[in-house]
Amino acid sequence: MNNSSDLRIACVMVGLPARGKTYIAYKVSRYLTWLGIKTQIFSVGNYRRELVGLNLPHTFFDPHNTEGVKKRREAAACALDDMITWFEKDNGTVGIFDATNSSKKTRAWINETLTARNIQVLFIESVCDDDDVILCNIKDVKLSSPDYSERDPDEATEDFMKRIKHYEETYETVTEENLTYIKLVNVGSQYIINMIRGYLESRIVFYLMNLHTRPKRIWFSRHGESLFNLEDKIGGDAGLSPRGEQYALKLPELVRQNIGGRPLTVWTSSMTRTIQTARHLDFPKKQWKALDELDTGVCDGMTYDEIEAKYPDDFARRDEDKFNYRYRGGESYRDLVLRLEPVIMDLERHENILIISHQATIRCMYAYFMGLSHEQLPYARIPLHTIIELKPKAFSCEEKLYHVDVGSVDTYRPKGQTARKLKDDKFVSDIPVSSEGASGEIVDSNNAPILPIKPIGITRTNTR
Ligand SMILES: *[C@@H]1O[C@H](CO)[C@@H](O)[C@H](O)[C@H]1NC(C)=O
Ligand SMILES: *[C@@H]1O[C@H](CO)[C@@H](O)[C@H](O)[C@H]1NC(C)=O
Ligand SMILES: *[C@@H]1O[C@H](CO)[C@@H](O)[C@H](O)[C@H]1NC(C)=O
Ligand SMILES: *[C@@H]1O[C@H](CO)[C@@H](O)[C@H](O)[C@H]1NC(C)=O
Repeated sequence: MNNSSDLRIACVMVGLPARGKTYIAYKVSRYLTWLGIKTQIFSVGNYRRELVGLNLPHTFFDPHNTEGVKKRREAAACALDDMITWFEKDNGTVGIFDATNSSKKTRAWINETLTARNIQVLFIESVCDDDDVILCNIKDVKLSSPDYSERDPDEATEDFMKRIKHYEETYETVTEENLTYIKLVNVGSQYIINMIRGYLESRIVFYLMNLHTRPKRIWFSRHGESLFNLEDKIGGDAGLSPRGEQYALKLPELVRQNIGGRPLTVWTSSMTRTIQTARHLDFPKKQWKALDELDTGVCDGMTYDEIEAKYPDDFARRDEDKFNYRYRGGESYRDLVLRLEPVIMDLERHENILIISHQATIRCMYAYFMGLSHEQLPYARIPLHTIIELKPKAFSCEEKLYHVDVGSVDTYRPKGQTARKLKDDKFVSDIPVSSEGASGEIVDSNNAPILPIKPIGITRTNTR
């Protein structure tokens, strides 16, 4: 029996090597996981490496090499089997099949095998004929792959080009009119879409159409310290404290020193404290209601001590599962992720954006870029009076923090701690401040996840 709750979709990657297929697979996986949809990548390349080892010569990929063809077919079959098992035993929702062999015959086989098991198949083809982009891809991604770990880079590039040639012999672009597919031509210059069914497939397609691969950076800052922060109260729409106002005054200089002369656009929430924080910045501004702080419902305007006293059960439940806990009459982090989805979509599309928002909202966006799990997300450290710069790379995200030497309270509460927390006149964040630089110091990021869960699909590179 098939009802909507056991909807299962297999995204099958199609395209020649070095067309960014694995990158696209990781992005889709991270996006869906962030939304709370159970997603996993099955990479035929990994199965092949397990089967026949590393450092294979290009001749292995020659379609006339029968042994090579046999092994590669075996790897593809193993990966497909594992994906089917994952759908059936682990109740997966979206499996991403990252393979290279892209012939009509292979697609018909995959289509038939999966649809017979009630798994919808969405082919995602990446087509690219821009040699510069392909060469860049090879240099950036492929040469750091385990396949080439012990090879001279020039020799490896040449070998890889020959490998691509072998694939070109059997490659057939998707044109089958009775397959569901999206074809991405030259990263964003053209899309061809066929037979998309249902809401989730449409979401994936819409996401892919917003995806760009050019390198960029994104900046986040919380509002300056607010009057509510000083009193340890949550929610509300308070203005800035005197120190928060100092941060707002120093922000243009911090931006000038560290972000430079870019044509920035500043996005704020619709709340007083972010608008006040941005007011001295001389850039175009946009207010987003979606960037407003987590709605704390009946707890709005209370301190954590008051919440603990008045709603002890709620307080404990929140500590147990902070991501899913919904304030009475308010929101949960899960709600917030859905509210922020359009912002993420716009961030993928735009460049040069500085977002001035709130602790919980920045945590959600930060988790998307850093690949944090839902367990880690509500505990990400987003210090006050600091600009966080994120630089997404192919399979990781670099992070830098620019801190202004204006004191603030620390609003961070680790898991399992009671309502009590530090209160001090001094800067009490435990982020070590480097001794160099005047107002725009780069401080070492100390955002170590609380739970040792490996982020889906990315490794964290913290730069100093
Ligand atoms: C790749 O496609 C060709 C042509 O359809 C087929 O002969 C070959 O077995 C396929 N290889 C794999 C590993 O699926
Ligand atoms: C998958 O769903 C079935 C039926 O709802 C359930 O019995 C089973 O425990 C689930 N398995 C996992 C790994 O969640
Ligand atoms: C793919 O599978 C569907 C459902 O079984 C079928 O209607 C369609 O003809 C298949 N397409 C191809 C190209 O095999
Ligand atoms: C759909 O795909 C099947 C299997 O490849 C093929 O036999 C059939 O002719 C296709 N139907 C149409 C209408 O294109």
